[in-house]
Amino acid sequence: MPDHEILPARTDTATGHVGTYRRVLPVSLERMYENALDWEHLPHVHSNSFAAIECLDAGAWGWRAAVVDGRGQSSVIELALDRSLRRWITRNLEGPNTGAEIWTHVFPVEDRRVDIVVDFFVPGVSAADREKVGNAYAGLYSILYDEDVAMMVERQRQLDARLNAGAVSVDLGERATLEFPVSVQLGSREFVIAAIGEELVAYPALCPHQLGPLNSVPLVDGTVTCPWHGYRFDVRSGSCVSGQNCRLQRAEVEERQGRVIVSTTH
Ligand code: FES
Ligand SMILES: [Fe+2]
Repeated sequence: MPDHEILPARTDTATGHVGTYRRVLPVSLERMYENALDWEHLPHVHSNSFAAIECLDAGAWGWRAAVVDGRGQSSVIELALDRSLRRWITRNLEGPNTGAEIWTHVFPVEDRRVDIVVDFFVPGVSAADREKVGNAYAGLYSILYDEDVAMMVERQRQLDARLNAGAVSVDLGERATLEFPVSVQLGSREFVIAAIGEELVAYPALCPHQLGPLNSVPLVDGTVTCPWHGYRFDVRSGSCVSGQNCRLQRAEVEERQGRVIVSTTH
């Protein structure tokens, strides 16, 4: 089987089925559930498809949210997860595609490999237009999963690598020879050492929320914004300035006789 395929609509039902998207993804079932429940990442990881989201309700059952898509159209979407059936149903409750439902089934193939089958149901589409509408949904899902798989694989890699390191100290050498930002490994964890004017700061390369990559984003006015859910952190204080209940750990940076020493205490 190819890595993904698009299957045509079933024409022998009255369900408004317009097509099926099928794909094998190199991730665990747990990462898939986590991703489905994670409404917060939509306008960040999928910024071309979603401009904004406001959560109306969320829990282990799923979530309901008001979203604005890439063309500025507003909808209310609900995602209901049923773990026992390895399935979630996404429904458009309000907005341009009201009544549309997307049923996603996940079949674990191996420990970190799933086969997903996504069925698109859109009411009121004529038989002649089914293929076009089905292909449009499949094309969108192909992009969304390209974006999600990068996030899920990276998060898994970071979870695998996460070990508890003891206190560690590293001598980076003469300050005059360093070009900031620099990355440094302290035990099993990577930190970014950056300069804010003359001041040096050290913060983790991974976001404390879900291990998003903070080393790939610029330091702006002493803050970094995580690309996965948009949490913004003040790297001096560690506080989350976008308002979520989350904190950035820091390492200590000091200069001793012109040399830069970074250390962590945990
Ligand atoms: S991983 Fe969620 S905001 Fe960084
Ligand atoms: Fe996603």
